[in-house]
Amino acid sequence: MTTTSLWQPLTLGRLELPHRLALAPMTRNRANPDGTPGEHAATYYRQRASLGLLISEGTQPSAGGQGYANTPGIHTPEQIEGWREVADAVHEEGGHLFLQLMHAGRIAHPDNTPHHREPVAPSAISAEQDIHTAHGVEKMPVPRALATEEIPGVIEEFRHAAASAIAAGADGVEIHAANGYLLHQFLASNANHRTDQYGGAIENRARLTVEVARAVADEIGADRTGIRISPAFPLGGLDEGDPEAVRAQYRYLVGELAPLHLAYLHVHHIGDDELLRSLREVWPTALLVVRYGRDRDAIAADIDAGLADMAPLGRFALANPDVVERLRSDAPFNDVDPATLYVGGADGYIDYPTLVRA
Ligand SMILES: Cc1cc2nc3c(=O)[nH]c(=O)nc-3n(C[C@H](O)[C@H](O)[C@H](O)COP(=O)(O)O)c2cc1C
Repeated sequence: MTTTSLWQPLTLGRLELPHRLALAPMTRNRANPDGTPGEHAATYYRQRASLGLLISEGTQPSAGGQGYANTPGIHTPEQIEGWREVADAVHEEGGHLFLQLMHAGRIAHPDNTPHHREPVAPSAISAEQDIHTAHGVEKMPVPRALATEEIPGVIEEFRHAAASAIAAGADGVEIHAANGYLLHQFLASNANHRTDQYGGAIENRARLTVEVARAVADEIGADRTGIRISPAFPLGGLDEGDPEAVRAQYRYLVGELAPLHLAYLHVHHIGDDELLRSLREVWPTALLVVRYGRDRDAIAADIDAGLADMAPLGRFALANPDVVERLRSDAPFNDVDPATLYVGGADGYIDYPTLVRA
């Protein structure tokens, strides 16, 4: 790649990163049933350490936050030990690891968790979607609406998980407020019909995300806390209204988060560049932007345009452990194998070839 913007160093919170690429968070469903990272997780992340900043797969902050089968957690002593192996492996290669804290909310099925809990959400409104379970594809159930008195407990789960991530040796956490999961469900008017201080007006729908961010930053330091949003992304059956409604929601939310001086804001972006520009204007630290399905030639475009500081890579990095080297040397990419994205085992996980082995 001829552009030089990708190869500039960047300060992100406490980290000095060598370039502007990162590993985007990707669920791989290879964790053990107790939520410890699977046997190949340390190898998978180690292989990709040249990306500098590795954002982990979505990791549940509590047993109740699990939605899919075989996803890892970061709330038990065993999970902390498991993630320590991953963090050590990444550090040995000179990389850095942020764990993505993902509470799935209503995007869940009781059959996907060891405790068969009923999914929780802002309101008892189903995503009306199918979900993979050990028993095949099933409908997501109608979730139970969280009582107002339960909300401090949810915030506490994120706080505890963040402390656990640091105890495991991670460099920080990314709060997942995107892609249709719990915090995004609170933001979205079609999933949040609450009448308490966490529903209704824009300010109320943003409240849980802001309170989680404050709690996590308070616990581990703002400079070790990132957050991911995905304005208007219709994943998980969410509908955030017309473009003006989306702009108002996210300008308010990011305006509330900006004074916290978090390590970064990560936007999973689908096209409203006017919104992105206005978020950029108020955001005081690093801005990470992913455009879903962007071409190889477009990886540096947002950085070149001054709209972003970093370009996390999803599937390119999944299929190319040495994607950094391949970009630097204009070498071709391996293709992703869609069949092995979310199934267990080493295949399609740690066996994508590097240039040397290719
Ligand atoms: C297999 C897979 C799993 C993903 N899991 C997550 C996840 O756990 N958390 C998240 O925020 N995004 C997740 N994403 C979205 C990616 O982080 C990224 O935003 C998206 O793939 C677009 O980037 P790309 O076109 O470079 O792949 C996932 C994507 C893929 C392909």
